[in-house]
Amino acid sequence: MNFHLSAHDVKTPAIALNGIEKSFDALKVLENISLVVSPGEVVALIGTSGCGKSTLLNIIADLLQPDRGEISVNGAVNNLRSDRDRIAYMFQEDRLLPWRSIRANVAFGLEAQHMDRSTRRAKADAMLAHVGLSDFAKSWPHQLSGGMRSRVALARSLVVEPRILLMDEPFSKLDPQTRSQMHGEVIRLQKMHGITILFVTHDIEEAVVLADRIVMMSPRPGRIRSIKTLDLSRPRIPTDPVVSEQIRQLRVEA
Ligand SMILES: Nc1ncnc2c1ncn2[C@@H]1O[C@H](COP(=O)(O)OP(=O)(O)O)[C@@H](O)[C@H]1O
Ligand SMILES: [Mg+2]
Repeated sequence: MNFHLSAHDVKTPAIALNGIEKSFDALKVLENISLVVSPGEVVALIGTSGCGKSTLLNIIADLLQPDRGEISVNGAVNNLRSDRDRIAYMFQEDRLLPWRSIRANVAFGLEAQHMDRSTRRAKADAMLAHVGLSDFAKSWPHQLSGGMRSRVALARSLVVEPRILLMDEPFSKLDPQTRSQMHGEVIRLQKMHGITILFVTHDIEEAVVLADRIVMMSPRPGRIRSIKTLDLSRPRIPTDPVVSEQIRQLRVEA
């Protein structure tokens, strides 16, 4: 696997949003959202339910058009197709295809790429091993627990070797132990491949454990209320006094 950053990328923001606005009919959902995410950065998005977090991810993924404002991804303004292909999106629901085996679900994203069946299969299996599901390659989605399905969804997102990973409350259904296991996995894969990650969470502890910066949004219409840079070394253990103090502080602010 090789999707390291070139010198070009270091100067170019992974994601740049400038004055994004979005309404659904009379309902104004996003107001003047401007944010620059650097390559390799991990940014958490926190805000009350309905403040437009999923809408913002949908806009970045080019599933929705903003009413106003500019978006550039990997330097390509307004989402040129070639660069969008390097975005992976882990939706709020796992969206596994029930009629496909776990392996075939993970390999799904590779089918759009020019790659033979055995290569797809090998890549899918390697990614399943990363998320600890090698034994379930031939299982069906309905045979897996919610937590295991989330891990499959993560594997499916990462198998395409994205440069940018968008995740919408990715681990909210997991039990605490599996969740922290997944946090470790995300950090490990992020470090290995320099992926840029923008993720939505309700969980301040999750944001502090994973993120370089935390973006706090205001209730609808969603605006950026504040941005907090986390200057903590990794790995971040929630019970570590410095980390838990940061979590406590942010809970007060949120
Ligand atoms: N396709 C849509 N059509 C109409 N309203 C929508 C649509 N998508 C989202 N909304 C509304 O926009 C608001 C923000 O939604 P969303 O981005 O899902 O919020 P969040 O993810 O922060 O909970 C909500 O009030 C929601 O009902
Ligand atoms: Mg949402």
